[in-house]
Amino acid sequence: MRARIALLRSMGTARPYQDTKPLEIVEADLEDPGFGEVRVKMAAAGLCHSDLSVINGDRPRDMPVALGHEASGVIEAVGPGVTRFSPGDHVVLVFVPSCGHCVPCASGRPALCEPGAAAAAKGTLLGGERRLRYKGEAINHHIGVSAFSTHAVVSENSCIRIDKSIPLDRAALLGCAVLTGVGAVLNSGELKMGESCAIVGLGGVGLAGLLGAVAAGAETIIAVDMAEHKRALAQELGATHAIDPTKEGAVAEVKALTRGGVDLAVELAGAAPALKFAYEITRRGGTTVTGGLPNPRAEFTIPAVSLTVGEQTLKGSYVGSCVPVRDIPRFAAMMQAGKLPIEKLMTHRITLDEINEGFERLATGEAIRQVVVF
Ligand SMILES: NC(=O)c1ccc[n+]([C@@H]2O[C@H](COP(=O)([O-])OP(=O)(O)OC[C@H]3O[C@@H](n4cnc5c(N)ncnc54)[C@H](O)[C@@H]3O)[C@@H](O)[C@H]2O)c1
Ligand SMILES: [Zn+2]
Ligand SMILES: [Zn+2]
Repeated sequence: MRARIALLRSMGTARPYQDTKPLEIVEADLEDPGFGEVRVKMAAAGLCHSDLSVINGDRPRDMPVALGHEASGVIEAVGPGVTRFSPGDHVVLVFVPSCGHCVPCASGRPALCEPGAAAAAKGTLLGGERRLRYKGEAINHHIGVSAFSTHAVVSENSCIRIDKSIPLDRAALLGCAVLTGVGAVLNSGELKMGESCAIVGLGGVGLAGLLGAVAAGAETIIAVDMAEHKRALAQELGATHAIDPTKEGAVAEVKALTRGGVDLAVELAGAAPALKFAYEITRRGGTTVTGGLPNPRAEFTIPAVSLTVGEQTLKGSYVGSCVPVRDIPRFAAMMQAGKLPIEKLMTHRITLDEINEGFERLATGEAIRQVVVF
């Protein structure tokens, strides 16, 4: 069949994107699902900084690629061997398919699935295939999903079923912003009721993490970003304090507010200076979690002895250290109960044809989460 997709042919296009249009909307050929694969009719797909990082070259991928990785949809067809899904099921797509059998999967850490990571690096689905072609040329899949498409063929291991009562536009955010942000706070950071927490970087992922900190009952929640309007939104969402990290004395201010630093600082900005700030505001004996994805050349240095004398914990968090089959239904239930009001992060609803304008708004920082509604 034919699918309309957002195709990226080269990285590093100059801005503004509404003029230079790095993403081209084309009709591509989509093969039928193969063994263990399903075809999803996309309902909604969110614009995440990780997509922007492919467009601007910070996260290099093989071209051409059908971009997008945060999405929800409805199963339309199933390939041979698929037993867990049927047409009509509502699903959230997860950008690391887990094979279930490699060492990380078997250790309960599917976010680190090795065949999943290898397929993502090659631009294939988990089974090793590419199912999209444009004018005869094979198109790479973006981290097993390729969400900015009317239809996508994906591994069934990239899908998590959700209850049909959950609005599909919000459900899209469960696949990345919520899994990553809330997971970084609750799973990687293990935030406990009454603790103090800082979120550094207040985009869609960081603000989802902030909602997680509010839901977890953190007593002091410090929102950190240089963008004033994002700090203001964070305070509306439950942050007790907001700090501009570029302001003179910002680290000392956090330490004064928290009697020596926060129990947990979570970096969700994707910039090395943000990680440095998060580390510096973490209390002695506290934990710094980093979930941002800066350019691979970016480095971060700390005094080596500080880890020892402060008994600091410094921890990475990919996909929020989530187990999607456990955490998507868990976070969806929190959302349905009003404890994760992620609709408040959805600033724009756009069509597929408006996607370049959307990425320009993400690059300038004007938008939080924008969702393509199909
Ligand atoms: N770990 C994962 O699995 C995973 C998944 C999704 C996204 N990400 C990454 O998370 C990051 C955030 O994604 P997003 O979609 O929310 O991006 P975004 O562009 O919407 O938000 C990033 C925010 O960080 C702020 N920021 C930049 N430098 C800062 C600094 N030094 N101090 C404080 N704030 C700073 C920006 O002003 C912006 O508000 C990106 O790097 C993205 O690639 C990681
Ligand atoms: Zn993402
Ligand atoms: Zn695996």
